[in-house]
Amino acid sequence: MDFDVLRRNVLEAIKKTQDVKGLEQIRIKYLGRQDGELIKILRSLKDLSVEEKRKLGPAANFLRNELEAAFINKLENLKLKIRNSQSNLDVTLPGKKVPVGHLHPLTLMENRIREIFQSLSFSVVEGPEVESDYYNFDALNIPANHPARDMWDTFWLRQKVQSSKFKVQSLLLRTHTSPVQIRYMEKHQPPFQIIVPGRVFRYEATDATHEINFHQIEGLMVGEDVSLANFKYIIEEFLKQLFGKNIHFRFRPSYFPFTEPSLEVDIQLGGKWLEVMGAGMVHPKVFDAVKYNSKEVRGFAFGLGLERLAMIKYKIDDIRLFYSGDLRFIKQF
Ligand code: PHE
Repeated sequence: MDFDVLRRNVLEAIKKTQDVKGLEQIRIKYLGRQDGELIKILRSLKDLSVEEKRKLGPAANFLRNELEAAFINKLENLKLKIRNSQSNLDVTLPGKKVPVGHLHPLTLMENRIREIFQSLSFSVVEGPEVESDYYNFDALNIPANHPARDMWDTFWLRQKVQSSKFKVQSLLLRTHTSPVQIRYMEKHQPPFQIIVPGRVFRYEATDATHEINFHQIEGLMVGEDVSLANFKYIIEEFLKQLFGKNIHFRFRPSYFPFTEPSLEVDIQLGGKWLEVMGAGMVHPKVFDAVKYNSKEVRGFAFGLGLERLAMIKYKIDDIRLFYSGDLRFIKQF
């Protein structure tokens, strides 16, 4: 048998085989080391002249390499076919859904409120959660030992700070975002309009409408002739954007030490009036505390509860759900 015939036979056989076992048998038959056809031919060469050996030796090697490559190629082909027939790949099946996180309902609400006030040219300002009693109370016209302090059940911290050579300040967890009014006015001059989102704390028993920590958004607008009419316009715009054009709201007289007059804003939903924020015209004593001339500037301030608004907007009946970490709750938003 000469090389050409061998070559043709092997390639033909490889082509015809359809399984791995059959392929291996063909390989052994032709390329086997013991008595494969190729080895037989090579053995028979020993009787040839040196010259002929020189010619046929490299040709035999070349053929061996070519045929081995053909075997490997076919083997890969067969394996691929097996793999494809075994995997139940159905390209028409719908894809697997990758779970994506949610924004917390409070984050959604806060983002929405920021958006609305930014559209009304308010800037967003933040302040510290650990406060001194000066910023949380005194500067807001709530002196120590005054019964008005009872309006805010306070978490006091054990540590005190030296605020100046003569004064030692008690620290607390802020009970509202109003101290940021003072911090901002100490460093800026009117006119300005800001909102202050942030976490606040109250030392209270928890129930469906009370939590020891919750969030407020403070608002403050100060200028030469800012009036309650300006407040009414801003708050009407805000409520309409948040709850729709047909929202009904009312002002109800109230009391806060740092505003005069003070009021609360209710909105009407499902036949009921729901309180959504406290507000009023900034008290002259507050302007005194930040060294503004209280005869020349006017301002309004308001503070709304983020949880309360989210509960109304999303019909949530228990404030404790916000902090429960319960995925069944969170996933609904
Ligand atoms: N700080 C008040 C509270 O927590 C709300 C408020 C803010 C009222 C600003 C009037 C003006 O109850």
